[in-house]
Amino acid sequence: DLSTSIAGVHLPNLLFNASGVCCQTTDDLKQMQDSASGSLITKSATCAQREGNPSPRYVPLPTGSINSMGLPNEGYQYYLDYAKSYDYSSPKPLFISLSGLSLAENKTMCEAFVAAKLPCVLEINFSCPNVPGKPQLGYDMEAMEAALNTLAPILRQPFGIKLPPYFDIAHFDAAAAIFNKFDDLAYVTCINSVGNGLAIDFETETALIKPKDGFGGLGGFMVLNTALANVNAFHRRLPTKKVIGVGGVTSGKEVFLHVLAGASAVQIGTTLKEEGPAVFARILKELEEIMEKKGYTSLEDFRGKVKTL
Ligand code: DHB
Repeated sequence: DLSTSIAGVHLPNLLFNASGVCCQTTDDLKQMQDSASGSLITKSATCAQREGNPSPRYVPLPTGSINSMGLPNEGYQYYLDYAKSYDYSSPKPLFISLSGLSLAENKTMCEAFVAAKLPCVLEINFSCPNVPGKPQLGYDMEAMEAALNTLAPILRQPFGIKLPPYFDIAHFDAAAAIFNKFDDLAYVTCINSVGNGLAIDFETETALIKPKDGFGGLGGFMVLNTALANVNAFHRRLPTKKVIGVGGVTSGKEVFLHVLAGASAVQIGTTLKEEGPAVFARILKELEEIMEKKGYTSLEDFRGKVKTL
């Protein structure tokens, strides 16, 4: 049994896409619906449609990927229309990612989705590192608390937030203390890309992506241990909330590790981008084989049960 629940919705299995991959258009989302995933989440929306940054803006690397997409998306009305037409009798719940360029934009988008009274789950993105000139909210504790103070009373329903990776215990403590003030904040998704890495081609001595002088978010296997630390840090500090793990999944083994660290669901970004939606069936099978070998029959048997020395 690989089923799980988040923010009051049931997922037939714990895997889905990391927001940003295979989820910008209705064609992408159809591919997610037709895959073996347990859910799907839309591309982070802004109020207005955006083309995003110039290409090349995503490049695979030997142990992951680098990207500076710049929030290309169809504008929130497109995702609201999609959410209105979604077949909620499907076993897969729908998650909607919102990433306003300002608090006013997040407010507008939250109000529109709440007014539509849909059973989809809203995830507010506090962690896009790729819009030139816009610092990410997740690293500004006061701005993050102010945003939650504005948005939680509008939402008045279980919701989630997407977080950047943190690298300091004091930051885990400070962020968790804020999150624990908000009862409707049902879950946190950790982690977004490790922001502002730089990949350079050795032969041509040239940055691999075009935006921001080559700086972009790192994902894939190289971020696994940062992801596991963030999942476990928030699992330990948010006893009444859930954690969605994302970062570094290439096989059933890394999904197993995310659940051991405390994840209730696990998202796949770089490996989905590289392998396509068939990745879900492969990794579910690998996880089932691992659980069988270890004698576990449900995720609760090992969720959060990482041992320490
Ligand atoms: C983009 C990247 C992110 O990490 C994010 O959270 C939202 C958008 C982007 O570059 O499109």
